[in-house]
Amino acid sequence: MLINHHQFRNKLVSMNKSSRCFFLFLTFLLHLTTVSSQAWDGVVITQADFQGLQAFKQGLVDPFNYLQSWNGTGLDACSGAWTGIKCVLGKVIAIQLPWKGLGGHISEKVGQLTALRKLSLHDNLIGGQIPQSISFLRDLRGVYLFNNRFSGSIPASIGNCLLLQTLDLSNNLLTGSIPTSFSNNTKLYRLNLSYNNLSGEVPAGLTNLPSLTYLFLSNNNLSGSIPDSWGETNKSYQLNTLYLDHNSLSGSIPASISNLHSLEQLSLNNNQLIGIIPSEIGNLSRLQTLDLSKNFINGDIPETIGNISSLFQLDLSGNNLTGEIPLSIDNLANLTSFNVSNNNLSGPVSPLLSRKFNSSSFAGNLQLCGYSASVPCPLAPSPSVIPSPSTPSQPATRKLNTKELILTIVGISFLFLLLLFCALISFLFRKSGDKTGTDSVKKGTAAAKSTGKGGKASSAAGSDVTSSGDTGGKLVHFDGPLAFTADDLLCATAEIMGKSTYGTVYKATLEDGSQVAVKRLREKIAKNQKEFETEVNALGKLRHPNLLALRAYYVGPKGEKLLVFDYMPKGSLASFLHARAPDTPIDWPTRMKIAICVARGLLHLHAEASMVHGNLTSANILLDDKSNAKVSDYGLSRLMSATANTNMIATAGALGYRAPELSKLKKANPKTDVYSLGVVILELLTGKSPSDTTNGLDLPQWVASVVEEEWTNEVFDLELMKDAAAGSTTGDELVNTLKLALHCVDPSPAARPDMQQILKQLEEIKPEVVESGEGPSSAGEAEAAGDAGGSEGKTE
Ligand SMILES: *[C@@H]1O[C@H](CO)[C@@H](O)[C@H](O)[C@H]1NC(C)=O
Ligand SMILES: *[C@@H]1O[C@H](CO)[C@@H](O)[C@H](O)[C@H]1NC(C)=O
Ligand SMILES: *[C@@H]1O[C@H](CO)[C@@H](O)[C@H](O)[C@H]1NC(C)=O
Ligand SMILES: *[C@@H]1O[C@H](CO)[C@@H](O)[C@H](O)[C@H]1NC(C)=O
Ligand SMILES: *[C@@H]1O[C@H](CO)[C@@H](O)[C@H](O)[C@H]1NC(C)=O
Ligand SMILES: *[C@@H]1O[C@H](CO)[C@@H](O)[C@H](O)[C@H]1NC(C)=O
Ligand SMILES: *[C@@H]1O[C@H](CO)[C@@H](O)[C@H](O)[C@H]1NC(C)=O
Ligand SMILES: *[C@@H]1O[C@H](CO)[C@@H](O)[C@H](O)[C@H]1NC(C)=O
Ligand SMILES: *[C@@H]1O[C@H](CO)[C@@H](O)[C@H](O)[C@H]1NC(C)=O
Ligand SMILES: *[C@@H]1O[C@H](CO)[C@@H](O)[C@H](O)[C@H]1NC(C)=O
Ligand SMILES: *[C@@H]1O[C@H](CO)[C@@H](O)[C@H](O)[C@H]1NC(C)=O
Ligand SMILES: *[C@@H]1O[C@H](CO)[C@@H](O)[C@H](O)[C@H]1NC(C)=O
Repeated sequence: MLINHHQFRNKLVSMNKSSRCFFLFLTFLLHLTTVSSQAWDGVVITQADFQGLQAFKQGLVDPFNYLQSWNGTGLDACSGAWTGIKCVLGKVIAIQLPWKGLGGHISEKVGQLTALRKLSLHDNLIGGQIPQSISFLRDLRGVYLFNNRFSGSIPASIGNCLLLQTLDLSNNLLTGSIPTSFSNNTKLYRLNLSYNNLSGEVPAGLTNLPSLTYLFLSNNNLSGSIPDSWGETNKSYQLNTLYLDHNSLSGSIPASISNLHSLEQLSLNNNQLIGIIPSEIGNLSRLQTLDLSKNFINGDIPETIGNISSLFQLDLSGNNLTGEIPLSIDNLANLTSFNVSNNNLSGPVSPLLSRKFNSSSFAGNLQLCGYSASVPCPLAPSPSVIPSPSTPSQPATRKLNTKELILTIVGISFLFLLLLFCALISFLFRKSGDKTGTDSVKKGTAAAKSTGKGGKASSAAGSDVTSSGDTGGKLVHFDGPLAFTADDLLCATAEIMGKSTYGTVYKATLEDGSQVAVKRLREKIAKNQKEFETEVNALGKLRHPNLLALRAYYVGPKGEKLLVFDYMPKGSLASFLHARAPDTPIDWPTRMKIAICVARGLLHLHAEASMVHGNLTSANILLDDKSNAKVSDYGLSRLMSATANTNMIATAGALGYRAPELSKLKKANPKTDVYSLGVVILELLTGKSPSDTTNGLDLPQWVASVVEEEWTNEVFDLELMKDAAAGSTTGDELVNTLKLALHCVDPSPAARPDMQQILKQLEEIKPEVVESGEGPSSAGEAEAAGDAGGSEGKTE
């Protein structure tokens, strides 16, 4: 009894909550029978049951004499004297003889025990067939015959046991097919037929049993397709676990599996499934484990998998999947086990996934890159592979694109070889000049640069044009220390740093080891070529120590556009502030310095370049090693079509930096930049991200509400309060900065200060920062400082 109890408890420990009721049911049975053994109801066993038990004993082989007590006249059979027998009113209701080393077989006469509810003989050596007469046991609820040697087929007559709740026949030698009569067993809760040698199809009747919660059919020899009628006739379908792995199932994964709203575990691995993963799988919102490994599944990994927020184990390895790993998988915060190895996937692995999982999760996909240092992504192929969510692309056209891409790469490589060949020829023929030949093709721009200012002065736009004419692309350099050809750029290894409405940003490492940030603009969002070039040339001329310099741009033969910027190793203010390790406080002077730098950059934009930023967030404020801030993404709206800008404004709004009037205006102006700067300063003061709303209030509203309640100190980041307590900052500085920030986020644009006033006030609040600050605040000198900032970038 006790052992029994433990066994069930152990078996059930691995299950979850919903199997509790099952456990309770067992406990109830055990309790009931315990009572009867302690206080026998006194009713002597019926003749039929007595004969049934005698036959049952005769069928078995009992090498350890556990059934020794089953002797004599049987008057005491129900008294508790007979090992493993429980009765109620002279009828046997339970036979429990697990782990008794029993052999032999079960007699057909067991059918005489017509009140039997539970038959537990697991972990013995019993063989032979499962008796047909089981159909007479109309009260049967639990049958535990796992870990034995039963052979033959499962009797179809089991469909008469209408109260059956648990049937565990796993790990036997059963053959034949799964009876269709299981559709009669509407009370079935757990059906475990795994580890047998069952063949034939999975009966459709199993797909609609309303109470079935655990269905284990793994490790058999089942064939045919998986039925496509899951949960169709019953909305309250309970199925929690569906294991069909290690069989010979063919056909495709039925979309109706997505009707199983309670499903938490789905294993279809090690079969011969073909076809695609249905996108409906994303509807399985409770799914925790999805194992489709080792099949022949093809097509793309559906984007909708990213909707299954509870997923923590995803194994798609060993299939024939193509396309990219959808970025939506990055959303799966609980994902701790992930494997897409041995497929036919392509494109870059997102930085998040490559950080979380080691390369054995990705290996065996020839065209997949970026998941380990030894498989870097080439800049040229990856951008074209990046899907652009803005363009309404049908999944069907994706394959074509891949083919097209391969052709393009082959074409480009061929042309590049041709280019090298031409260069070599020209070298052999010209034999003149100090730097010619292949080297000059690659380093030509560098040579032009190092010859001094003459080269720069000669080009009217202040920029060098290197057109890699053979590929049809055009690379335009502005000033700056980095010199590279279009081919250098396209052959650089790249790693995705981030994505925005305008495009994807890569960190590209050039052949000479230098690093640049490359923004690849989304297709079809830029203005036409002529207008684009006018605007981008204007942007390329802007230089200020607090504005990220645009160093070059590239327009490819098909109109693809790359913008090349300085690479900022310390990343964005957003990650500096919100994604830092514990115990790395950011002190007040640093925060103030960042605010002042940003204000200087914006002032230069507003006053000198007559330009608005339009999309300032902490994500596009970048930091150098000394925490000097540089504003990026400014003026990009000028490169884009009107539609793209409308979309961008909508996105910025979602992040909490957008001035309220922009919902009507749709066009940014200097006062909307002031609002965004106000939010950034509040972010610096509170340490809170504007994307986290508190009680439905955005950051400015929340701060205003706290200040109104005169709890001003509560708004500040705790670290700053510690600074203030330690005397390294005065409370006045914090409060005055807070007042200024609140002024900037005034709902009325007219009430907001302009950038000049903001900078002046910030510098008054914290004069030390001005002295130690990098750039002079006057715009005239800033031009000169721009180049200095640039060369600094190079030495890092
Ligand atoms: C029946 O079993 C009981 C308990 O094992 C034992 O004490 C008794 O001697 C047995 N009687 C016969 C007739 O074998
Ligand atoms: C299903 O149950 C009904 C009784 O409700 C019985 O008559 C029928 O034979 C059963 N079917 C099978 C295949 O066992
Ligand atoms: C089903 O049977 C297998 C093999 O005996 C066992 O490993 C598994 O835990 C069982 N599952 C359930 C839910 O009974
Ligand atoms: C499984 O059953 C098939 C017949 O259906 C038989 O040929 C095969 O040997 C059996 N395999 C095992 C491991 O029992
Ligand atoms: C699976 O079933 C097929 C017949 O359907 C049989 O030939 C094969 O031997 C079986 N495999 C095993 C491992 O039992
Ligand atoms: C659907 O479920 C309800 C209870 O959940 C049950 O009474 C009914 O018989 C089920 N219908 C079918 C067709 O299984
Ligand atoms: C299931 O997913 C599909 C496509 O992913 C969707 O169109 C459908 O509305 C979803 N159905 C339900 C019931 O959620
Ligand atoms: C599921 O994912 C798709 C694509 O990722 C998305 O369009 C859809 O809105 C999502 N559905 C739900 C219910 O989250
Ligand atoms: C993620 O896992 C945690 C801990 O297991 C759990 O509390 C949380 O609900 C899970 N999140 C989702 C979306 O399932
Ligand atoms: C994988 O899919 C491609 C087509 O997408 C097909 O040509 C190839 O034969 C498939 N490979 C396997 C092993 O199924
Ligand atoms: C990978 O996909 C390509 C094109 O879809 C196909 O030709 C190739 O056979 C696939 N490779 C494998 C190993 O399935
Ligand atoms: C992924 O699956 C492959 C087999 O397809 C295995 O070799 C590798 O160890 C697995 N990696 C992880 C992280 O599970």
